[in-house]
Amino acid sequence: MLKVLQELERRREAARMGGGVERIEAQHRKGRLTARERLDILLDPGSFEELDMYVEHNCVDFGMPETVIPGDGVVTGSGTINGRLVFVFSQDFTVFGGSLSERHAQKICKVMDMAMKVGAPVIGLNDSGGARIQEGVASLGGYAEVFQRNVLASGVVPQVSLIMGPCAGGAVYSPAMTDFIFMVKDSSYMFVTGPDVVKTVTNEVVTQEELGGAVTHSTKSGVADMAMEDDVDALLRTREFFDFLPLNNRTAPPFRPSSDEGERRIDSLDTLVPALATRPYDMKELILKVADEGHFFELQPGHAGNIIIGFARIEGHVVGVVANQPMVLAGCLDIAASKKAGRFVRFCDAFGIPIITFVDVPGFLPGVAQEHNGIIKNGAKLLFAYAEATVPKITVITRKAYGGAYDVMASKHLRGDLNYAWPTAEIAVMGAKGAVEIIFRGKTPEEIAERTREYEARFANPFVAASKGFIDEVIMPHSTRRRIAVGLRKLRTKSLENPWKKHDNIPL
Ligand code: COA
Repeated sequence: MLKVLQELERRREAARMGGGVERIEAQHRKGRLTARERLDILLDPGSFEELDMYVEHNCVDFGMPETVIPGDGVVTGSGTINGRLVFVFSQDFTVFGGSLSERHAQKICKVMDMAMKVGAPVIGLNDSGGARIQEGVASLGGYAEVFQRNVLASGVVPQVSLIMGPCAGGAVYSPAMTDFIFMVKDSSYMFVTGPDVVKTVTNEVVTQEELGGAVTHSTKSGVADMAMEDDVDALLRTREFFDFLPLNNRTAPPFRPSSDEGERRIDSLDTLVPALATRPYDMKELILKVADEGHFFELQPGHAGNIIIGFARIEGHVVGVVANQPMVLAGCLDIAASKKAGRFVRFCDAFGIPIITFVDVPGFLPGVAQEHNGIIKNGAKLLFAYAEATVPKITVITRKAYGGAYDVMASKHLRGDLNYAWPTAEIAVMGAKGAVEIIFRGKTPEEIAERTREYEARFANPFVAASKGFIDEVIMPHSTRRRIAVGLRKLRTKSLENPWKKHDNIPL
């Protein structure tokens, strides 16, 4: 008996060593942790239960039968984060460069299937040289099996990808279909074709980091939601982030009792909006002041800064926050902002997270580039997302809500449940000067100035919209948190369903 037990321990030890001491040291020299070290930080101590530790590849070509490493380049299983169940896979770069073989893919699929069955999120730690070259098409089939599961799991259980090393070619498409992507700075990259292929085909010279590093994807492309400092930072922030996520689409996000009084009055909000309508102010100040304990987990902070998205809590309950940011492009909606917020609104709606929208939007960003790159269809993404959302929606207009952008930003007409405006709100077709210059074209500057004052007096306020019932109440800024907290309490039992359909056809 003892011998059998010793044999088991020997096999376990062999699997835990992955590609061996040298390759582990090489991984450390690159500033990266190993697959197992990463799981140790991500999961609660002692909670990890590994599956498929002894799985081996089945490749018979290129001398592969002589190089068999138990586990086949990916560590899979389940564990807990702050006591809540999560399924994980962590690619082991020390084993065939973490490359994906048929068996490696099967291991990932097994945890994804289990996650779907029991209703728990999946977190994937990606660090891989891509398709296992020796296996050819078998490995491509493996990717497709994972992709299929990513799609079926979308909207059922939250899926989070951490990119902690290479992620290239077809490998990028599994993370791309998950809900959130976090990358590690100077250590991870994602691209469909690398710098060498780019140079050959387009003659562009670019480094890996410039082409697909964490900074590039969290600023320019918007592919990544966050760029983390290093492995440890990425894993600890993911633990913090996980606390905002429900386990699946049928359970509420975790409730965190808070000592922060829901009806807390915030006097400083009464002077947040500057007297001069063209002066910017920081919308993040409003979010931080309204959120429980000033805790706001912002996503994509470096991309499309004209809109802010992220999670916060009100009276311990998770909310998704979407807010125009007057400090960037005056808070205009453009292509990037519409895509960024549209996808976030859809995540919140899929997972039953109420949406709080703070509005200060002068309209859509004008420009040839915007039109030619499809602001029409891209702007429609955010409009569509808000309109289809059935979760509780509370909107607060702080200042401008002009034109079509007024409609888009969770207006009453898109089934906003509670639509509030501050007394400083201006809800109109456009700014007074622009409106007057169109209606009174050809008039003298003095007349234009006079008419502008008239127009402002008539429309630059929330009361015209309130008189039509488009605004439920004009509220004191200092009571914003109380209004939201009380509103959310009332909306907790909200029940609203869209008409039956196979699925919608959101503009892509
Ligand atoms: N298939 C099989 N083995 C792979 C692999 C792959 N796709 N990618 C890496 N490996 C192996 C390497 O052979 C090496 O094995 P060894 O430790 O036994 O020598 C090990 O993984 C580490 O790779 P290495 O190239 O030494 O690491 P690196 O950090 O210098 O470079 C990459 C990393 C990913 C840039 C490089 O390995 C690479 O270009 N891989 C191929 C990428 C690719 O074309 N994938 C297929 C298409 S998706």
